[in-house]
Amino acid sequence: MIAIGADHGGYELKKAVMEHLEKRGIEYKDFGTYSGEAVDYPVIAEAVGKAVAAGEFERGILVCGTGIGMSMAANKVKGIRAACCSDTFSAKFTRLHNDANILCFGGRVVGAGLALEIVDAYLDAEFEGGRHEKRVKMLMDIENK
Ligand code: RB5
Repeated sequence: MIAIGADHGGYELKKAVMEHLEKRGIEYKDFGTYSGEAVDYPVIAEAVGKAVAAGEFERGILVCGTGIGMSMAANKVKGIRAACCSDTFSAKFTRLHNDANILCFGGRVVGAGLALEIVDAYLDAEFEGGRHEKRVKMLMDIENK
């Protein structure tokens, strides 16, 4: 189950992503925003981040204008590893190597065609573990220093 959210900069692209998830038979919960009116991205990122960190959702997807504000905000939530990706290679490897639990991208950066391929690359990859296990643990330990 995916937690999905966007601000006004990502609102249109979020709709395309949700449609894509439906076609793929992947369940999601929409955390808003629900119109193109301006909203503050940290509010949405925090809600999605907390829901993913609490284990209520396996993964999250966040879209704003650039994807950067969403990823910065989501990464402030303990337990979140959010990655802002504008290409499929990064989206795949942030799962394989970083075990990213939230994917972010920008509605003003990528078109819907590429965004949906980024989503697929992210969702279809699994964390490799092994030598990356220790590094992800080190990454998360920074939160407690
Ligand atoms: C909103 O104008 C814009 O700042 C936001 O969508 C995002 O790009 C922030 O990082």
